[in-house]
Amino acid sequence: MSNSRIIHDEFDLDAVTPYKMLRTRVLQKMDKNDWRVLAVTSSHQNAGKTITAINLAMMIARSGGRRVYLLDIDLRKPGIAKSLGIDDISAGVGDYLSGERKIKDVVWGVGEEDLFVLPGKGRFDHSSELLVSETMTDLVSAIRSDSSEPIVIIDLPPVLAADDALAIAPLIDALLFVVAEGETKRADISHSLELLRDVELLGVVLNKSRDAHPGY
Ligand SMILES: Nc1ncnc2c1ncn2[C@@H]1O[C@H](COP(=O)(O)OP(=O)(O)OP(=O)(O)O)[C@@H](O)[C@H]1O
Ligand SMILES: [Mg+2]
Repeated sequence: MSNSRIIHDEFDLDAVTPYKMLRTRVLQKMDKNDWRVLAVTSSHQNAGKTITAINLAMMIARSGGRRVYLLDIDLRKPGIAKSLGIDDISAGVGDYLSGERKIKDVVWGVGEEDLFVLPGKGRFDHSSELLVSETMTDLVSAIRSDSSEPIVIIDLPPVLAADDALAIAPLIDALLFVVAEGETKRADISHSLELLRDVELLGVVLNKSRDAHPGY
């Protein structure tokens, strides 16, 4: 993995434990409510959305028996491919949404049997239009109708940066909101959650915490 914060086999147990707790809480809430599509977002850039989305997807895939789709829907500033060390991919999810590629061309494996990654590649400035397109709706419907009942984790752009998070809101079941300790402002959290008030808030991840145990 190109990013040292992404879980790998030699990852420190103390660092894995909070992600295991997050995974278990997320799965319990999703299963209880019959939710399948979880979006990870924050109010501003750099809070740790991409790291959280990847590590959560990885931990769910590793728990066994659950297929996980990890989608990079931060189409203006995709981060998943770089963090996973697969930025040499030939196409990303934006190429599928804009009709340039077939779905099979944008699903990538990263050595985890049950993890299917749809990373971003390049920059799509008309991203919110792509997110409200029929192709996007069909993509989520196709994954939802997979009989293996997969979990879908979506890495979203920051809520206050663009209308992308709002655009995709009707397709998601619940939200995981990442807050960076010492960085994210209280008023921005309220403003973001107010904008996304129609989406269920599954929980808040306190990232970059000084006590090194992300709260949940
Ligand atoms: N718990 C943490 N402690 C310290 N640094 C962290 C932590 N989580 C993430 N970072 C660092 O913060 C930066 C941003 O992380 P990440 O890319 O996951 O954030 P993001 O919210 O997806 O950012 P963007 O809005 O740019 O997409 C990275 O350099 C990452 O290594
Ligand atoms: Mg990111």
